[in-house]
Amino acid sequence: MADSRPIGVFDSGLGGLTVVKELKKYLPFENIVYFGDTGRVPYGTKSKETIEKYAIQDEHFLLQKDVKLIVAACGTVSSVAAHTGDNLPVPFVGVVEHSVKAAVKATKNKKIGIIGTAATISSGAHEKAIKKLMPDAQVFANNCNLFVPIVEEGWYNQNDAVAVETAARYLEPLKTAGVDTLIMGCTHYPVLEPIIAKIMGDTVTLINMGEATAVYVAELLKEKGLLNETKNPSYSFFVSDKHKSFRSQAERLLDSEIKETQVEQVDINSL
Ligand code: DGL
Repeated sequence: MADSRPIGVFDSGLGGLTVVKELKKYLPFENIVYFGDTGRVPYGTKSKETIEKYAIQDEHFLLQKDVKLIVAACGTVSSVAAHTGDNLPVPFVGVVEHSVKAAVKATKNKKIGIIGTAATISSGAHEKAIKKLMPDAQVFANNCNLFVPIVEEGWYNQNDAVAVETAARYLEPLKTAGVDTLIMGCTHYPVLEPIIAKIMGDTVTLINMGEATAVYVAELLKEKGLLNETKNPSYSFFVSDKHKSFRSQAERLLDSEIKETQVEQVDINSL
């Protein structure tokens, strides 16, 4: 049995595209509908109630697109509002659980670092999940609030002075703590991966939540008989603001051409 309905993916903005990139790699035949809430980014500095409200609207929007599975490609939603996906008519996958499993598998010294938005870090979601799997792990967390605006602004060249200086400052405590594994707990952060990797050094394994999640989604679709078998997948993108700059940024992040007709602006509040 095959299922050609798209996978629905959402995030507050561009960050979820790092998850789309991994989904394309592990599931090259799947159609994907992406929603980036560019009009209300960032989520990570907002209250739990607001993040829940946004997550419910985003999920509702994707359901209208007849998706077969929803990925909350947002560390903040996955940490603070994952329960909003509990009673949906399609499977709902967050990015925390599988990245934590990958981190626990990777660590040798049981010192795991997490970086994420303020909401993600104060939720303690990653830490709780790590402690369940590895009770004697030591967890070190730091929020990196400026990373999201830096990425949304497009300042992520490997030598960008602002990005490098900001990253060095945020990562210093984790380096000092001696973590050997670092979860990039916000989906915007893999865009800065070359910078983060250079600062943390070769001995630290970086966990990309998108990759860990894509591997799981591939297993899940296979197990449920929901894989698509057509070879020409389509990708459509919806945003709540700034249609034009989104397209050029998305092309840069996904390293592929995106036609103007593939991106549409929607009024998420009216849905
Ligand atoms: N990419 C998101 C995350 O993983 C969103 C960050 C934000 O909007 O603050 O947390």
